[in-house]
Amino acid sequence: MASKGSRGKRIALSLLALLLVAAGGAAVYLLQRYPNDVPVTYEDATQHFLRGSIGGDTDNGLPKRIMEVLPTLFADLLPPGAPHDWTAFGFQVDPGEVIPLGFSERTMRVPLVGMNCALCHTGVVRASADAPPQRILGMGSTTLDLEGFFGFLFKVVADPRYTPENLIAAMEARAPMDALDRFVYGKVVTRFKEGLEKRKAMLGALFAPDRPGFGPGRVDTFNPYKLSTLGQHYPDGLTPEEAIGNARYASIWAQEKKKNRALNWDGNAPRIEDRNAGAAFGAGATHESIDMAQIARVQAWLEVLPAPKWPYAAPDPDEVARGRAVFQARCFDCHDDAGQRMGEIIPIDLIGTDRRRFDSYTPKLNQLFLDMGNGKPWDLQAMQKTAGYANRPLDGLWARGPYLHNGSVPTIWDLLTPAAERNGGQPTFRVGHGVINQNDLGIQADVATLDGRETAVFDTRLAGNSNAGHTGPAYGTDLPDEDKKALIAYLKTL
Ligand code: HEC
Ligand code: HEC
Repeated sequence: MASKGSRGKRIALSLLALLLVAAGGAAVYLLQRYPNDVPVTYEDATQHFLRGSIGGDTDNGLPKRIMEVLPTLFADLLPPGAPHDWTAFGFQVDPGEVIPLGFSERTMRVPLVGMNCALCHTGVVRASADAPPQRILGMGSTTLDLEGFFGFLFKVVADPRYTPENLIAAMEARAPMDALDRFVYGKVVTRFKEGLEKRKAMLGALFAPDRPGFGPGRVDTFNPYKLSTLGQHYPDGLTPEEAIGNARYASIWAQEKKKNRALNWDGNAPRIEDRNAGAAFGAGATHESIDMAQIARVQAWLEVLPAPKWPYAAPDPDEVARGRAVFQARCFDCHDDAGQRMGEIIPIDLIGTDRRRFDSYTPKLNQLFLDMGNGKPWDLQAMQKTAGYANRPLDGLWARGPYLHNGSVPTIWDLLTPAAERNGGQPTFRVGHGVINQNDLGIQADVATLDGRETAVFDTRLAGNSNAGHTGPAYGTDLPDEDKKALIAYLKTL
């Protein structure tokens, strides 16, 4: 039981807090705005990539102490069978930690956490469904389910159990709070709810039940941005043609070689600075909070981050040599660093892959980007509306499946098969598990459960999910099986 003295002290503190409110009009706002705007940065570049701030943790930051308690407090709202922590959405949580990597921290009166590059660009692979996960830096995550994560947050704040009393009790059980903390967190809990309700109202169209989900390993790259930051330019929402832009998280190692290439799946960002600033906005940085200096550090680190080497049984050298010859003949021009057509955009009708992601990046959005930020350090200067999807290097290919911009093809063997026969002609396969198919190169299509939990289903029949295209002699789908096997052996060495 609290002694009279400490209760007296508590009341005095609450009064002090109330006085502060009265004095400032909105003291919480002021306290958050003016005192310590302190981002957590790391000397070590790898640590900074994994946990450091790039500016995504201010306006869009999530209060750390709330994040620490939600998965246990609202365990019943997590996906069925999921562990009661943030790994439930495919985040990576280190032993002893609660906040996943890929979240940075910044104290804005209270500690906030926000997304950084590592959230979407660090992945795990497994040699088999029973094998432990192996982390790969720079790999596009295949497990991260951001739509599930935000869906969970929306459900949490709409739940009658989401009250300052309940949240504060759970936070206090983890770490002590004084009266001022309790007062401040009372406001923080309410503001967090209001912030999420606002976000839900803006982005609601993306969460409609009849819309094909991102699923694990993908996000709609541009539509959330149109509906939030650029919302004033989209008073009537999105057109049906542009409304689905689900795209795989790209792998971003060895950026040095890709500096002046048209990157992003459709090659809309030939300038590296544009790509990085755009990525930071995608991570929740605002036009004010974006931290160009820290992003430059991450960029420098990514330039020399090596592509991961194939970690399993080495392919037969003779087969690799035969495969290299097949590659030279069929793929080199478009996919080798020294290829004539590296970085070129293949028009959408020629490449024939799903066009939804391509159509989601509209000339209108391109113009809005170009008009944005003139004179600012993050000015987007060279964004372009292209005619199709870009030829890209195939480095670290083994860790990049499922393939194509929409992640619709589980293995390279399937990609070398005419579209109608890919994945054995089956319209669905399992994703979000990271189990490598060492034979066909890519991911296992049939891992139905992992760690006792059902994996997600990828349905190629849904809008944006077509596995068509990249078919015909130019793309190797006519090769004899022996050549395909040799080519796969060679591709393992990239
Ligand atoms: C919310 C998830 C997310 C975050 C956070 C994120 N990215 Fe990305 N990134 C993506 C997706 C998705 C793509 C593919 C975009 C497309 O073309 O549709 C991508 C593409 C890229 C590419 C182009 C790769 C290529 O080969 O085409 C680079 C480079 C990149 N990101 C760097 C970064 C950097 C640097 C950061 C941090 C400042 C970052 N990203 C943060 C999701 C993210
Ligand atoms: C005319 C140029 C061209 C040729 C030739 C070509 N490709 Fe491609 N390739 C592309 C384009 C463009 C894409 C992107 C398509 C998309 O994502 O929708 C692509 C995508 C891929 C991908 C998916 C990469 C990823 O990160 O998901 C792989 C793997 C691939 N090609 C392998 C090959 C192989 C192997 C050959 C030779 C047998 C080949 N390609 C021949 C243009 C080409």
